Amino acid sequence: RAEVVINGSSSPAVVDRSNESIKHNIQPASSKWRHNQTLSLRIRKQILKFLDAEKDISVLKGTLKPGDIIHYIFDRDSTMNVSQNLYELLPRTSPLKNKHFGTCAIVGNSGVLLNSGCGQEIDAHSFVIRCNLAPVQEYARDVGLKTDLVTMNPSVIQRAFEDLVNATWREKLLQRLHSLNGSILWIPAFMARGGKERVEWVNELILKHHVNVRTAYPSLRLLHAVRGYWLTNKVHIKRPTTGLLMYTLATRFCKQIYLYGFWPFPLDQNQNPVKYHYYDSLKYGYTSQASAHTMPLEFKALKSLHEQGALKLTVGQCD
Ligand code: CTP
Repeated sequence: RAEVVINGSSSPAVVDRSNESIKHNIQPASSKWRHNQTLSLRIRKQILKFLDAEKDISVLKGTLKPGDIIHYIFDRDSTMNVSQNLYELLPRTSPLKNKHFGTCAIVGNSGVLLNSGCGQEIDAHSFVIRCNLAPVQEYARDVGLKTDLVTMNPSVIQRAFEDLVNATWREKLLQRLHSLNGSILWIPAFMARGGKERVEWVNELILKHHVNVRTAYPSLRLLHAVRGYWLTNKVHIKRPTTGLLMYTLATRFCKQIYLYGFWPFPLDQNQNPVKYHYYDSLKYGYTSQASAHTMPLEFKALKSLHEQGALKLTVGQCD
């Protein structure tokens, strides 16, 4: 039986930054991409050997209790206590229990989305995943509005909401949370130390203001399981990005997966500048964490899957 070839080489790809965007050239959205159902199913099965998105998307209430001590996944020597608020917000059952969707969109945050006109196409998918509470209202034409699941790394509170220094920023975050209107808010609370207070602030806001979101906190094994799957397929990632995590999870419950806003390069396919994020002024390599992500390496793997029909990457304008 044919193998899934995600990365042809057995060593990490050497990234030549001078012409990366040319090297990664992808045909326009309208080209003859065909979904490969057999391959998608094979990938789902392979990933299921490492993790089960239905379970690993969140720790459930029955498995932790207030006061439990958790070692951070990336900082094993640091610990956190499960607070009463966190406990209250743990779901009783998986938010993805028995869920299956025809087509899903995963929206990355690259500036390549600007002027893409992809908003309508994105919103037409059955399930839309977004990353890191990226704003949508002001960019609806290019990124759409529909949000079924949105992630929130604790660092977002610092980066996009000024660590809630005053009432204005608290109100801004509260409005953003209210706008989620019943969607899943996925908070990687146990990954790295330093985010504890930020997670607690958000938990408190949600409870105090009865915000209508379904919170989920990824399982302690998710990160290593995702990394294990990709390493087994010769994709040598140090630490998967939110986008790659979402793709890996989505294979479990989405028949067809469409990626938008995945473009970790400063120039587009026509050599025009591309912002790192579509909504802020962050630059490439803004933290050591970002480089630990090795986004271009992930992109290479995703592009290969695009070429084989396992997923569809859109990196230009939508039709
Ligand atoms: N992404 C991309 N190209 C960019 C920016 C983002 O492909 N220029 C994709 C990545 O998969 C990324 C996702 O979009 O994980 C969401 O972007 P971002 O919020 O920047 O995610 P992370 O870098 O994973 O988050 P953080 O910086 O908080 O660790």
